[in-house]
Amino acid sequence: MSVEDGRAYLQSAYPIIYPIVLERAKGMEIWDVDGNKYLDFFSGFGVINYGHSHPKIVNAVKEQMEKIAHVGMIYYNVPALQLAKKLAEIAPGDLKKTYYANSGTEAVEGAIKLAKKYSTKIQGKTGAYVMAFDFAFHGRGALTLTLTHERKYKRHLGHFANYPGIVHLPSPYCYRFPGDVETCKSYTLEKVDEYISHHLGPENVAAVIMEPVMGEGGIIVPPDGWLKELEKIARENDVLLIMDEVQSGFGRTGKIFAHEWEDVRADIMTMGKALGAGLPLAGTMTTDEVDRAWEPGDHNVTFSGNPVACAAGLAGIEVMLEERLHENALRTGEFIMKKLRDASLPVIGEVRGRGLFIGVELVKDRESKKPNVELTKRVKEGMFKRGYIIGTGGMFGNVVRIEPPLTVTLEQADRMTDDLLDILKSG
Ligand SMILES: Cc1ncc(COP(=O)(O)O)c(C=O)c1O
Repeated sequence: MSVEDGRAYLQSAYPIIYPIVLERAKGMEIWDVDGNKYLDFFSGFGVINYGHSHPKIVNAVKEQMEKIAHVGMIYYNVPALQLAKKLAEIAPGDLKKTYYANSGTEAVEGAIKLAKKYSTKIQGKTGAYVMAFDFAFHGRGALTLTLTHERKYKRHLGHFANYPGIVHLPSPYCYRFPGDVETCKSYTLEKVDEYISHHLGPENVAAVIMEPVMGEGGIIVPPDGWLKELEKIARENDVLLIMDEVQSGFGRTGKIFAHEWEDVRADIMTMGKALGAGLPLAGTMTTDEVDRAWEPGDHNVTFSGNPVACAAGLAGIEVMLEERLHENALRTGEFIMKKLRDASLPVIGEVRGRGLFIGVELVKDRESKKPNVELTKRVKEGMFKRGYIIGTGGMFGNVVRIEPPLTVTLEQADRMTDDLLDILKSG
């Protein structure tokens, strides 16, 4: 199989940026069909938190496949229940009940649907509005693409990404805020309050949705205390708080879920990516209270609770807890970020992140902060030539994204950072 086959037989929508065909992977390493080896510092969009082909996860999948592959949620099945129980154990706050989906997009759809039901049926509101933030990414379906901020995904789609009642507010992207961090923090929070109280009316707002660390937008970490304040505003106005943990969950940030960093209590949490430990699995968790809004049959998809995906997910969580991978994420992530910051290169505008969810914003110079998109492209190409897969992104396409499996060693992280700095130094 070749890149030409890909061009001939796969639709052009895919964002193929690496001209290779992959064949196998193990731990941090992936090989293409020509036998070239790469170190994976992107984890397939932040999915492979537990390392490629971890034997425990592979075995769980094989064993479950031999028992039962698919049933559908007209009955319960063992792995779906086991995983749901495990999730209830590890989830923060009062999050206890799980609904399974196949993708992050579906999980977010389910979260909004539940929030709307709760707000109309239980709270007696209109449920008309959902608030999201600039630079957010919540998926590419009709509703989720409306929640997603980036315009480039919405071109030539007519009203496809024009779901009614979605309101975007300024996000705490304080690096690009015209003022200091404190002003950025208070301004963005005041806007949330102002919109709920004066523009929309608390009786009309079903929910506010936020990524605790904004991934696709450029690994934007809200300032300390921001998420907790957001929770407070939501609570005071009886607005549900949805934490979108699709990319930030399962140890990536050094905590099992990123909103634990601020001890936030969410009403609904979305999950995806690492949840299935390499198999397509996503979902939402909610509290007993919010779950009251559902009635049997209100929501489902054919593959919901798929036993094989749930078995993989359960094995993955066990691997994370046994191997303390979230702790490694914290340690190794801080090492990478410190080394990058200490280099004090004029083209590095900001190094930010939590754990192994790292963004390096590249600029022409630190004064103008002009996005350095050309350099970002060169970095990606240069790193690829040196055998690394990394991500890029951010609103202006000038953020290098480092999201390796949480199994990465300090030595691998050190070598990758040296190579990255080397390329950045030569411009
Ligand atoms: C925070 C967040 N939410 C939702 C999604 C959509 O997930 P999926 O691509 O699995 O549909 C993503 C994907 O990157 C994401 O990062």
